[in-house]
Amino acid sequence: MPVLNPLPLPLGGVDPLDKRAVRALLGETRERTLALVAPVSDQDMNRVHDPLMSPLVWDLGHIAAFEDLWLGVEAAGLPALRPDLLSVYDAAETPRAERGEIDYLRLDEAYGYLGAVRRRSLRVLDETELDPFIWDMVIRHEQQHNETMLQTLKLAQPGVFTPPARPLPARPPFHAAGRKAHIAAGPFELGALPSGFAYDNERPRQVVDVPAFDIDVTPVTNGAFREFVESGGYHRPQWWSDDGWRWRAAHAVERPLYWTPDGHERWFDTYEPIDPAAMVMHVSWYEADAYARSRGERLPTEAEWEKAAVYYPASDLTRRYPWGDEPPTADRANLDQLAFRPASPGAFPAGSSPHGCVAMIGDVWEWTSSSFNGYPGFAPYPYAEYSSIFFGDEYKVLRGGSWAADPVAVRGTFRNWDHPLRRQIFSGFRCARDAR
Ligand SMILES: [Fe+2]
Repeated sequence: MPVLNPLPLPLGGVDPLDKRAVRALLGETRERTLALVAPVSDQDMNRVHDPLMSPLVWDLGHIAAFEDLWLGVEAAGLPALRPDLLSVYDAAETPRAERGEIDYLRLDEAYGYLGAVRRRSLRVLDETELDPFIWDMVIRHEQQHNETMLQTLKLAQPGVFTPPARPLPARPPFHAAGRKAHIAAGPFELGALPSGFAYDNERPRQVVDVPAFDIDVTPVTNGAFREFVESGGYHRPQWWSDDGWRWRAAHAVERPLYWTPDGHERWFDTYEPIDPAAMVMHVSWYEADAYARSRGERLPTEAEWEKAAVYYPASDLTRRYPWGDEPPTADRANLDQLAFRPASPGAFPAGSSPHGCVAMIGDVWEWTSSSFNGYPGFAPYPYAEYSSIFFGDEYKVLRGGSWAADPVAVRGTFRNWDHPLRRQIFSGFRCARDAR
């Protein structure tokens, strides 16, 4: 998320956060950040683990700089605590590959900076009128960076990080993998309402007429994806887009990112046999697209995904989540960086959508066929560069959040985006087809 040129901040209609709730959320979010990296050695905090990712200590300094800019400078009109660091930690100005070189704070200084900024933010909270959007945005920014840091920790070599994983619910007795839900033709309201927290790219809400389609009830499983691998899916150019085939050939890609040739999958610092019932993860858009084509299907459009997830046909309403408008709970979705992996489809029946689709929120981010673009009537907020500099065919949209997403940070309208070749993200997919 870049931190440039803020726009004026006129928008109302955000969550009714009060100062006590803001203080509590700031505190909980910071505790999670610190707990996540606490087991990582100082040396591994400062090191570049993969050219794709920043050193973990850069993320910490960036979290502090973003908070200083938005809460100190923008919300309170104060000078930056460390003006010299704002460009060092500007994600737009500093490509990740170069972050091992630049003069960012080392670990002790980064912790000091985080603490100093936070102490001032809490004073600002007490002394200024609350603009909930800004505080909400800063909290979500930190939560989203925790997911980014988990991508780094997963790419790191075994020995760097052992996840303190909480067990998932027992495997469900039914197995809906491979079944389709039918979504009837008709209009529905896509996108976020004017009220409630949402990013600029989720608005404005609009009526979209969606032709009838069928969509997988569950994300694609490891077992199904392994059939694609074993049937030569990575060697049949007819199933791949031209760009996808070039990428596959150039990097000799043969299987999902953490799969090994002998049927194992790396989980941070251990290797396990691939679990055929769990959802496939760490596939690129190119791989997801090729798998879908091999079945005579395709990825869902964003509108199809959102309609299958949060549209209630009986009442003709779009809800915030598949289960309704209440926030996520532990029995509804695999979120919150607790399990450290996706579940088996159907493990959270209370989180089903009205169309019977499961795991649409949590578990794995789901690739859609859609490129990232503004909805008609898009207006940038709170700064021009948040979304719009990414609009275009270079980025594909992912939906639904992953096990690594904070429950506060996801909802049915949330749009994530990345390059179609990326797969260090916690990405899976489900397939769709025009209704027969
Ligand atoms: Fe950021």
